[in-house]
Amino acid sequence: MKRENFLVWILDIEGNRELRIANRNKVIMLRVENISKTYEDGTQALKGVTFSVAPGEFVAVLGKSGSGKSTLLRCINRLVEPTEGSIFLGDDEITGASPSTLRLLRREIGLVFQQYNLVNRLTVWTNVMTGGLGVLPSWMGLAGYFPRTSIDRAKVHLERVGLAGKANSRADKLSGGQQQRVGIARALVQEPRLILADEPVSSLDPVSAKTIMDLLREINQKNGVSIICNLHLPDLAREYAQRLLVLRSGKIVFDGVPKQMDSSRLEALYESPLQ
Ligand SMILES: Nc1ncnc2c1ncn2[C@@H]1O[C@H](COP(=O)(O)OP(=O)(O)OP(=O)(O)O)[C@@H](O)[C@H]1O
Ligand SMILES: [Mg+2]
Repeated sequence: MKRENFLVWILDIEGNRELRIANRNKVIMLRVENISKTYEDGTQALKGVTFSVAPGEFVAVLGKSGSGKSTLLRCINRLVEPTEGSIFLGDDEITGASPSTLRLLRREIGLVFQQYNLVNRLTVWTNVMTGGLGVLPSWMGLAGYFPRTSIDRAKVHLERVGLAGKANSRADKLSGGQQQRVGIARALVQEPRLILADEPVSSLDPVSAKTIMDLLREINQKNGVSIICNLHLPDLAREYAQRLLVLRSGKIVFDGVPKQMDSSRLEALYESPLQ
């Protein structure tokens, strides 16, 4: 997959246009087309979801519990197999990709989880290094051997999240906010084009939550990494995202900029019966 720099106009948080450099040769970096997901027990979690994400966009996904937010993020990297529809990352189709192609595509997508998903008994350093495992041949991980460039990269990202001093601590000795910063460093080691974050601050106190959201914003703005972030709190979504998607019962009921969305409109969208 070749990379090219590309200038794109995007909407900033106020809805103003600004010029950004995006990597790769596509104005649309992710295309989700008519995705549906019916789980084996018959639950219809997604019903014909369609949207696109531009390089460098920060998109927040809102919706009540059970509206399909996690299912949507998981379908994007096929942790959950969509029942119908297509997903493209640039020109490459994720849906239907062979295991080897899917592995390549997943390298470009970093994941950040609500519960951090660190290996508790391992050090911060080892947890961060495992982010590179999708990029390196698997024997390197098994042998505990990592090339110099991967080590340097992990150092840079650990420093960036402010945890260079904790490299040798056990992951479970860190606070929740620190663990989530390790989770972000692990995602960054992959040097992804897109980060999918599923409720990254729901388990954190407001101060730690702000630190994490600020970090995601910085990664988005400085590195042009697109972010799709599921959030429970509309205020947080409005503050950080350039664009909001609202899901209700597996369908998108709003796709627009935050200033078009005040609390009463959002509440109405959450509650109103579907057409
Ligand atoms: N593995 C599964 N098997 C069956 N049903 C599932 C499965 N995972 C999720 N669901 C159902 O699919 C629907 C959407 O769930 P999902 O977890 O995507 O919602 P969500 O918006 O992320 O909710 P929350 O805000 O609580 O995290 C819900 O009805 C849920 O019960
Ligand atoms: Mg969820």
